[in-house]
Amino acid sequence: MTAPAPLFSPGYFANPYPTLAALRTQGPVFQTPQLGYMLFQHADVRGLARCPHLSKALLEQARIEGLPEEAQRLAKPVLERAKFSMLQTDPPTHTRLRSQATKAFTTRAAEAMRPRIEALADALLDAMTETGGMDVVRDFAFPLPATVIMELLGVPAADRDQLKQWTADAVTFLGALRTSADPVAVARKGAEGNEALRAYAADLIEKKRGDPQPDFISQLVQVQQTEDGRMNVDEVISQSVLLLAAGHETTTNLIANGLLAFLRHPEQWRALCADPTLARGAVDEVLRYDPPVQLTARVTTEPMEIGGVAIPAGSRIVTMLGAANRDPEHFPEPERFDIRRGAADHVSFGFDRHLCLGAHLARIEGEIAFRRFAERFPDLRLADGATLEYQANPTFRALKALPVTF
Ligand code: HEM
Repeated sequence: MTAPAPLFSPGYFANPYPTLAALRTQGPVFQTPQLGYMLFQHADVRGLARCPHLSKALLEQARIEGLPEEAQRLAKPVLERAKFSMLQTDPPTHTRLRSQATKAFTTRAAEAMRPRIEALADALLDAMTETGGMDVVRDFAFPLPATVIMELLGVPAADRDQLKQWTADAVTFLGALRTSADPVAVARKGAEGNEALRAYAADLIEKKRGDPQPDFISQLVQVQQTEDGRMNVDEVISQSVLLLAAGHETTTNLIANGLLAFLRHPEQWRALCADPTLARGAVDEVLRYDPPVQLTARVTTEPMEIGGVAIPAGSRIVTMLGAANRDPEHFPEPERFDIRRGAADHVSFGFDRHLCLGAHLARIEGEIAFRRFAERFPDLRLADGATLEYQANPTFRALKALPVTF
């Protein structure tokens, strides 16, 4: 068993689970100056599902409290725009914005994309077959979901690599601003990335206004053009940018974290190779075992009691999804990676009205990825001498690279 590393230290980012397990044994709630009240137990996280006293809109101010003035100044314009995004609003705005997108992301809509996702996965792997090795993150886990979401939204493929850099800076801002050793730099890059993404989306929206296509951004533009108050232009921009980022950053990590878990558990890999139909269930076990999104945050609007701890109104609470997924009260032998476990009751897609909109799509992408790797590269191995490094981000569990040979 690895020794627990201090919270948000390099050792924590390499492997947060011993630290989370050690904190959980001390009690159900742990307070940190950076993030607020951390919750570790599956029942406590699930118990918040219908809690009427939690706000995401109020989180924006809490995001910058206590940071250096310069970081606050740089972050403010980004936080100002949060009021246009479903991820950062409360009802009724949240309900209105989300309702414009639900139809495009049903199980049925995601299933209809399966053949296209399979073709994209095969094309990416065809290009690698002769090479005998690849960086899974760069060569597959990033381009697959990025291409899928860009096609769905109607974003030109040629812009993929440019958008990737802006998105990466925005994601660091969203997930690591409060724990970074250099919040000013994170705020500066995050603000620039956000600004660039919004300008890009605004331009694209104008083009689609004049030349609508059968894509999701054109649909949003059409809703906005009816001018019946359902959506304004800022909201169309924010939903487009949110979907572009959420639609690939996390799924990249599902694929990479999953393949790494298989490389570290050869008996599970052999089971998948022997029966690739296990890929569907494997996706949920990967999501439970090493979730791409490690935490979500809310602000309490009333005093609350969680796990016997009194939490005042106006506090930041943080659900530690990776810890709840390894709560031994809920999942027997939680440290064991077992693709036949039937782990669908994890909290990796969230737990309340903000439950992941892209969950069906992400599950299908993950299933196709694991299945295709098992069918095509049963002798997959970690490349000799590979050192694995994660982004220093407590929210998104992201490998920088995953070099493999086959
Ligand atoms: C394995 C991949 C994914 C994981 C682990 C994941 C995880 C999450 C989580 C935990 C939330 C809730 C955040 C919160 O409560 O604060 C969320 C929300 C969201 N996700 Fe995902 N996600 C994934 C893939 C996707 C994909 C592929 C899309 C889009 C196509 C997407 C779009 C969204 C959106 C729009 C929201 C906001 C929903 C709302 O606020 O109502 N996600 N996701």
